[in-house]
Amino acid sequence: MPETRFVDVRRFESIDSTNRYLLDEARAGAPEGVVAVADHQTAGRGRLGRTWEAPAGANLLLSVLLRPLLAPEARHLSTTAVALAAVDAIAAVVIGAAGVGVEVGIKWPNDLVASDGRKLAGVLAEADLASSGSRGLPDPVVVGIGINVNWPAVDEDLSPELRGAAVSLRQLAGGSVDRETLLEHMLLALEPRVSALSTPEGRTLLGDDLRRQCTTIGTRVRVDLPDGSFVGTAVAVTDDGHLTVDVDGVPRTVVAGDVVHVRPGS
Ligand code: BTN
Repeated sequence: MPETRFVDVRRFESIDSTNRYLLDEARAGAPEGVVAVADHQTAGRGRLGRTWEAPAGANLLLSVLLRPLLAPEARHLSTTAVALAAVDAIAAVVIGAAGVGVEVGIKWPNDLVASDGRKLAGVLAEADLASSGSRGLPDPVVVGIGINVNWPAVDEDLSPELRGAAVSLRQLAGGSVDRETLLEHMLLALEPRVSALSTPEGRTLLGDDLRRQCTTIGTRVRVDLPDGSFVGTAVAVTDDGHLTVDVDGVPRTVVAGDVVHVRPGS
């Protein structure tokens, strides 16, 4: 078994949020590499202040504590490293009924999606930049990922609003997927992805891999911002992780926000 920095794996049958737990551990001086895995979260956190819910014992709910030496404008790459590691792990572990791997892409900024656009996993990075200066440790970032592994088992498990929007590996593979095996491969895949954060060449590769996997580039999108929405064609993801959207020939940069892939004609 290759060595990784992710050997301190803390498991919880039930916890409010693995991200919250590791942020507190980071404040207390925990080193890079601590992992928190939960069977169930009572207050799972999603992006943009949303909640993240999954029934107990079905999905992979995981956070990792990183302390990457990254310039502020490159911090988003910690999230990219985790999303790409998840794509790698799924490719290694999940084989569909026809004997071929399931196809997974990344919707900007960091959702893992199936080829039909349904969401398979979400990634949430949270930083506490005030917490570690005095200890002489690099600033912490906690990156959490929730992967729909065995739930939903079928579309009917989902609320009517989520049907057609979310999917599980079980549904894509046509059978249940072992969460422990996926976790093991996730931690293995994270090691080179996190190492890549610390060199310019590594960061270039992460950006290139993100662009290769990104299903948003080339897609008609609606960008929802706090002060309104606009529609255009996503044309690039910059090295800083920002989305460039062509709006009637004028490029607009999206730093954060919600992006909806719009079907032509809708
Ligand atoms: C999203 O909104 O798409 C991001 C969801 C991130 C959910 C994961 S589950 C494990 C970790 N702990 C949390 O509280 N959230 C993340």
